[in-house]
Amino acid sequence: ALLAGGDRPLAGRTAVVTSGPTHEPIDPVRYIANRSSGRQGHAIAAALAKLGAQVTLVSGPVTLADPPGVTVVKVERAEEMLEAVLARLPADIAVMVAAVADWRVAAANAEKIKKRPGEAPPPLLLAENPDILKTVGHHAGRPKVVVGFAAETQDVEENGRAKLERKGADLIVANDVSPETGIMGGTRNSVKLITAAGVEAWPDLSKEEVAERLAGWIAGRFSRQP
Ligand code: CTP
Ligand code: CA
Repeated sequence: ALLAGGDRPLAGRTAVVTSGPTHEPIDPVRYIANRSSGRQGHAIAAALAKLGAQVTLVSGPVTLADPPGVTVVKVERAEEMLEAVLARLPADIAVMVAAVADWRVAAANAEKIKKRPGEAPPPLLLAENPDILKTVGHHAGRPKVVVGFAAETQDVEENGRAKLERKGADLIVANDVSPETGIMGGTRNSVKLITAAGVEAWPDLSKEEVAERLAGWIAGRFSRQP
């Protein structure tokens, strides 16, 4: 049996964390992506490892260094990210932080698309990407604790609650990423924790502090419900 506690309450637990954006190729030199620095996801991977968990970080393209004590799997596209996450199941903990592109180009061009004088711009036909969090939340090997994020620019709580339900998550960490908040690309974060039990607002914190508190919250889930 595992003894939870001490300063490594997640010792013996496995975790998979996604972080960063995904890049969906248009052709060999162009892509579609969401804005994401990967700072929050990388900090969460590091914080879980610090509490003793064995962490795999599945990361899209970022400029950050690999966090210490974490296995890093680098991917580009959403479909690759899903495959890498599923390869780590079963796991005890899943924290899906990546800003996954909702759509990919249905048929990416094998060659660079050339501008042709006088011709109209090329149309982009999109296809929906797999929802990684939703897949994990409803998976047979579902982790005991499944956490998602919800980056919103309006109706933060309402949208967060809908995502909690739809994706089969235990917790949605919701934040307002309107440009004026400076959260996107910044070092600080101001989040609301949405669970079936209700909403808890955390104060404005650094992304590292959010990560540490969140890792503590996750550890608490194991000690309260063995
Ligand atoms: N997510 C995911 N795979 C996707 C889309 C989202 O795993 N294809 C995860 C994100 O990592 C995040 C959560 O789902 O943890 C919410 O992402 P978000 O983009 O806010 O939700 P969507 O369901 O894509 O809804 P929308 O973008 O329309 O708000
Ligand atoms: Ca989305």
